[in-house]
Amino acid sequence: MALHLTLLDGRLHDRAGFTCGVPSLDTYLREQAGQHQRNGIATTHVLVDAAQPRHILGYCSLAAAQLNLSELQPADRKRLPTYPVPAVRMARLAVSAGAHGHRYGRLLVGHAANCASALRETLGVRVLLVDALDVKAARFYRAYGFREAMANSHTLYLPLGKLIAP
Ligand SMILES: CC(C)(COP(=O)(O)OP(=O)(O)OC[C@H]1O[C@@H](n2cnc3c(N)ncnc32)[C@H](O)[C@@H]1OP(=O)(O)O)[C@@H](O)C(=O)NCCC(=O)NCCS
Repeated sequence: MALHLTLLDGRLHDRAGFTCGVPSLDTYLREQAGQHQRNGIATTHVLVDAAQPRHILGYCSLAAAQLNLSELQPADRKRLPTYPVPAVRMARLAVSAGAHGHRYGRLLVGHAANCASALRETLGVRVLLVDALDVKAARFYRAYGFREAMANSHTLYLPLGKLIAP
């Protein structure tokens, strides 16, 4: 299997055939993701197998965001200015119901973190943010180092590592 992560292309990818078990995430992919991508609201990154390039195995959507400094845990606030914290939000994450448990979710989270880190060559980004759908999803994110935001256990953030000085 040769897995590829690429931006959603409505002419190529089969959005209608995607189902992950959470209807709102299927509907988003089918009805809004393309429009949001064209309009600068969010990009959608899809995971496909090169042998079946139309078939979407999973997707994540990314958008610019910010977090109040007071929402970071005290240890993560150290030496930060008292401005809102620049962030990338992984607004949605879903894996095809037939492909759960193959580590595709993990791959998509890693891809989102890499995209956010790569942006730091161009603009300030301190954390990758997610809003977990439920307690189970929050557990999934915590396993990858995401930390709960203060006063909202459904919002989690992943501090991005330091860039190596040029
Ligand atoms: C949550 C979801 C993206 C996980 O994708 P996946 O490809 O099945 O997960 P992975 O195979 O990458 O699992 C990686 C690890 O997370 C665990 N895990 C998977 N789904 C989990 C869940 N819902 N809750 C807690 N842990 C979970 C796995 O057991 C695995 O653990 P391991 O590394 O110790 O073996 C997928 O189940 C999904 O699309 N669910 C429906 C939509 C959803 O809930 N999205 C999250 C929105 S916030």
